[in-house]
Amino acid sequence: MKKAYIMLCMAGCAAGILAGCGGKIEQTAEPFLYGDLTEVGDEYVVVGFAQVGSESDWRRANTNSFNETFTEENGYYLLYEDGQQKQENQLKAMRNFILQEVDYIVLDPIVETGWDGVLEEAKDAGIPVILSDRYAETADASLYTCWVGSDFEEEGRRAGEWLAMYLENRGRTREEIRIVTLQGTPGSTAQLGRTEGFGQILEQHGNWTMLDRQSGDFTQAKGEEVMEQFLEDYEDIDVVVCENDNMAFGAVEAIRKAGRTCGPDGDIIVICFDAMEAALEAMMRGEINAAFECNPLLGPEVDEIIQALERGEPVEKTRYVEETYYDTSMDLETILENRAY
Ligand code: AHR
Repeated sequence: MKKAYIMLCMAGCAAGILAGCGGKIEQTAEPFLYGDLTEVGDEYVVVGFAQVGSESDWRRANTNSFNETFTEENGYYLLYEDGQQKQENQLKAMRNFILQEVDYIVLDPIVETGWDGVLEEAKDAGIPVILSDRYAETADASLYTCWVGSDFEEEGRRAGEWLAMYLENRGRTREEIRIVTLQGTPGSTAQLGRTEGFGQILEQHGNWTMLDRQSGDFTQAKGEEVMEQFLEDYEDIDVVVCENDNMAFGAVEAIRKAGRTCGPDGDIIVICFDAMEAALEAMMRGEINAAFECNPLLGPEVDEIIQALERGEPVEKTRYVEETYYDTSMDLETILENRAY
């Protein structure tokens, strides 16, 4: 195992301090941040984690999953970098990890493109890069070791299929259905996959119209802002598809402020992705109709991959995590009692 020389804190390197969002997940263990540490013992596997940011409840649960898995007790020394939703910060973090000669880099790329250069630098330095959650489009697949995360396209299809079933159960198959979408960060795997998957089902329904799609960048504040605009621009929205829970919380707020109603007893159907605790609670309050799960617990998955690599075993290039969905017809109270996130 290499020794990691920890460099002084990069300007702009942010602690995992989390801005207010709709959910109640708090960050647990303090991530290892840059400091004036000089040398880490050979007994640790040093992992540099270039995280996207702290934009959502999902992201906080995902960061917690890494912090709780990559502990000194488990034989790891974790360097955590919050990219604050900016690719340039993630590129800086990656280059710093390379300079520090970490054993592994875990990259959760904010968008899919623009990584070839830094991935080549990591490969030249002999550092395996594991992609987690979001994917990086590369000219050469040997630039990264493997990817683990959600099947975002399947999540989108599942949401579309659920909507078709929901409308059918309410005898609305012939009605004109007007839909708007609050998209995630443009060019991110979660946005691209969910938009594509839902779009495939949209195409099968001649009576569904996508009135508009705009990015709310996966945040509650932007979700609310964009939904406010949608409500001004379109009188007759039947469905809002929110590409994450937090934008749905913002949409619900905008709907309420506009004097409109939503959820199973309201006039706008709200669908979202992630299905964190706060979304299930919003469903119990009758604000959201359905939430399509995105599993944030990727720390143990990446740990398994690293342990296999440490033993010299091959790993799968692509690894999906299991996911389901929830709607208001289910016993959400019981589901919440046993839920890890
Ligand atoms: O990449 C996963 C997505 O990123 C989650 O759906 C969203 O909440 C997060 O910001």
